[in-house]
Amino acid sequence: MRGEMDDYIYLDNSATTPVSEEVMEAMLPYWRAEYGNASSLHSFGRRAHSAMEESRARLAASLGASESEIIFTAGASEANNLAIKGLAFSGIDKRHIITSQIEHPAVFKVCQWLEKQGFTVTYLPVDQEGMVDPDELAATITDDTLLVTIMYGNNEIGTVQPISQIAKICRAQGVIFHTDAVQAYGKIPLSVADVDMLSASAHKLHGPRGVGMLYLRKGIKLSPLIHGGGHERGRRSGTENIAGIVGFAKAVEIAFAEMEVLRKRLEGFRERLIETITAIQKTRLNGQRSGSLPHITNISFMAIEGESLVMKLDEHNIATSTGSACSSPTLEPSHVLLAIGIPIAMAHGSLRISTGRQTTAAEIERFLAVLPQVVEELREISPFKINTKIR
Ligand SMILES: Cc1ncc(COP(=O)(O)O)c(C=O)c1O
Repeated sequence: MRGEMDDYIYLDNSATTPVSEEVMEAMLPYWRAEYGNASSLHSFGRRAHSAMEESRARLAASLGASESEIIFTAGASEANNLAIKGLAFSGIDKRHIITSQIEHPAVFKVCQWLEKQGFTVTYLPVDQEGMVDPDELAATITDDTLLVTIMYGNNEIGTVQPISQIAKICRAQGVIFHTDAVQAYGKIPLSVADVDMLSASAHKLHGPRGVGMLYLRKGIKLSPLIHGGGHERGRRSGTENIAGIVGFAKAVEIAFAEMEVLRKRLEGFRERLIETITAIQKTRLNGQRSGSLPHITNISFMAIEGESLVMKLDEHNIATSTGSACSSPTLEPSHVLLAIGIPIAMAHGSLRISTGRQTTAAEIERFLAVLPQVVEELREISPFKINTKIR
């Protein structure tokens, strides 16, 4: 899975994952001999079309959906935009949207943009583990509420929301419910019976980057974002990325077949990480202690800049993150950590460690052997002095 990067420990699987060998094998024919356009009438085209439809069927089955309810997109950012803007401009005369304070930018920036177009958005607070309160959500719904969009599992801290409960509330009140399930899909079993729209992305589960999907319950109409040749039943025009779609379906097939085994292994790594790292003084776990996504562990270190920690670990050939890959360059404290009430100084010193299918116990141990020493070095040069010798 990694080739020349063999001595590099990659613990940033929430940002993206390495494409697995089986996925690569499945995709290669569609970049080489099978380059047909799925809309073409000749046999090349028809073979591309069947590969796409077989993949669609496999992805639909993973959600208990029918094929016509799956729309392929160029990733989950597009799927989220299509779900939210597509519904906002579908002609329904309602202008209130409810979301949470800890969404990925591909949801909250869409909501902020819609506010400028005259929509009203409620950003629900979360508790100190990052959980939305379903009762508070229910009380926020009005006659004008068009959409509730709450993520399944958080990409920075791993908190899993009570999605089934939230979806039931929305269904009972006649409000459409969307969930950004990018980090949860293929990682934990999902309860999607009452979910109306769901976004997922291939590259978070060892599939290719640049392919995603929106599950759209039959009967819900969206205004398309991309107009053109009328692909995807007129809901998303553009020549389909057959290799990517085939790779996505293969990655999902593997993720679902291995889910329970992998989940247990990653939960074991998470336990080991939490136990060892929180034994370093002035640290705190961000998110849920249990019930979290198995692959994400987020810990804050007092008197350290998260970015310095990531760079120092990189010198030791270890890839980690301060939180959301997208907001890292801005050096702003994470909106997720601020929403769960972490003081700003502590929010600046957060590290997200995210594991994947390729992560080994030996890698976790090598990382844990390096981390305390790196933390101590950084605290020694930190202007915010804390006594690192006293527990
Ligand atoms: C929760 C969540 N939503 C959406 C996205 C965006 O997905 P994509 O990279 O496929 O556009 C990501 C990826 O960082 C994510 O973690």
